[in-house]
Amino acid sequence: MSTPPAIGIDLGTTFSCVGVFQNNRVEIIANDQGNRTTPSCVAFTDKGRLIGEAAINQATMNPANTVFGVKRLIGRSFDDEEVRSDMKHWPFKVINSEGKPRIKVQHCGETKQFVAEQISAMVLTKMKETAETYLNEKVTDVVITVPAYFNVGQRQATIDAAKIAGLNVLRLINEPTAAAIAYGMDKRSNRQRNVLIFDWGGGTFDVSILSMKNGKFEVKAVGGDTHLGGEDINSRLVDHCVEKFKQAHKGKDLTTSVKAIGRLRKACETAKRMLSTAESTNIGIESLFEGIDFSTTLTRAPFEQLCSDLFSQTMDAVKTALNDAKMDKADIHEILLVGGSTRIPKVQSMLQDFFTTSKLNKCINPDEAVAYGATLLAAKLSGGGVSNSMQDLMLLEVTPLSLGLEDADGMMGIVIKRNTPIPTKQTCNAVTAVDNQTSVWISVYEGERAKASDNHFLGHFLILGFPAAQRDEIKFENTFEIDKSGILHVSS
Ligand SMILES: Nc1ncnc2c1ncn2[C@@H]1O[C@H](COP(=O)(O)OP(=O)(O)OP(=O)(O)O)[C@@H](O)[C@H]1O
Ligand SMILES: [Mg+2]
Repeated sequence: MSTPPAIGIDLGTTFSCVGVFQNNRVEIIANDQGNRTTPSCVAFTDKGRLIGEAAINQATMNPANTVFGVKRLIGRSFDDEEVRSDMKHWPFKVINSEGKPRIKVQHCGETKQFVAEQISAMVLTKMKETAETYLNEKVTDVVITVPAYFNVGQRQATIDAAKIAGLNVLRLINEPTAAAIAYGMDKRSNRQRNVLIFDWGGGTFDVSILSMKNGKFEVKAVGGDTHLGGEDINSRLVDHCVEKFKQAHKGKDLTTSVKAIGRLRKACETAKRMLSTAESTNIGIESLFEGIDFSTTLTRAPFEQLCSDLFSQTMDAVKTALNDAKMDKADIHEILLVGGSTRIPKVQSMLQDFFTTSKLNKCINPDEAVAYGATLLAAKLSGGGVSNSMQDLMLLEVTPLSLGLEDADGMMGIVIKRNTPIPTKQTCNAVTAVDNQTSVWISVYEGERAKASDNHFLGHFLILGFPAAQRDEIKFENTFEIDKSGILHVSS
């Protein structure tokens, strides 16, 4: 019996996509509704659980129990500033459970709580089933994509979600790298091409600079923001409309109605998409709040004004990535646009104005390229009937954030600097800080700030049993190892 094929999944904030390598090519698989991407949305009702389109379709009637965007929660703590700001915009309830965010819903007459990993697992299960229906066999092995800028905690949580869904992760691959493979595998050349991938989706923004030569993909630098996407643009529009409504109706506050906000958000999403092709559009909702209709016209210029800081943030990340890659903008041969938010004309013109000489490439499908690349890698890793051209696919990725230890003065001692190629193993020497010290706490952090506690705390462990000695006399080693999926292993 032949082994079942491995699949590639793009687990997106707003949409997910699955593919399989068959008959020497990647097949992006349509779901039961005939769509090639599936909303990353889960709804809980009196009768059961709905995932994908079925969940989205009933969202305005059941806003408090329709969960979306959990990729923005996964691997984060409840106190995270970004979690706090998202919660204000979400119609479902997020509570603090021992520092971890949990989503609280009504399901079949009972109150239930889920962590982000469990909701993501439900979306992954739907993608797995879509593939199994198409292939008519069980699937377990998978390559899942994550934003390049995901930290170690977010990566580990994604692997946990896959485990809950009964999937075995062959490798996590960064979304922009997957897009680059999708684009570059059949464009072999002996000349080195530098490509900048600008991936702006629903929840995250990623920029990567890669050098491609034959089948070798070498990531030079990554950057971005795991909390900057089309959802933030929608929130801007919602806030704008809430203000307009207040002004027109003696301070009436739409935010007091979960249902009104849900309907408004949907209308804003539609208007935003309209503005990518039309100069002007109308947002109109009947009986939005206390029987009052809402209507407003939105044109491109004010829309761009409303979101200008979000747009600039993406360009700042582009400049940082160029710096990290030690490249000038003239060194970039091509720019690949990936993710739905790159359809916004202002985003494209901003990039073209900055990269005057490089070409903006729109030939890849911005919704499917990431899953396509993940599927190619899945096929290669599982040895599943990959053509010769794939055998020499070589991926050299980097770590997105610096990793280090808190020193005796509370400062960050960097062990692995950001944009170091992975896998990597680095060892640092340490000594005891006080006389007759018998144990030491090792605290591990991730980030670029000088003070350790300003960075993201990953965890700590205690080393016991040092013999009595003067300070500095006891020497020990800390080893940091990052695997190909970007997962950290620390030992002393
Ligand atoms: N024509 C358009 N104009 C503007 N925005 C659009 C358009 N089409 C889609 N989008 C936005 O793109 C986003 C979805 O993009 P995509 O499917 O690439 O994201 P994702 O993969 O789910 O998210 P992420 O990669 O951030 O996890 C949504 O916010 C959607 O509103
Ligand atoms: Mg995406």
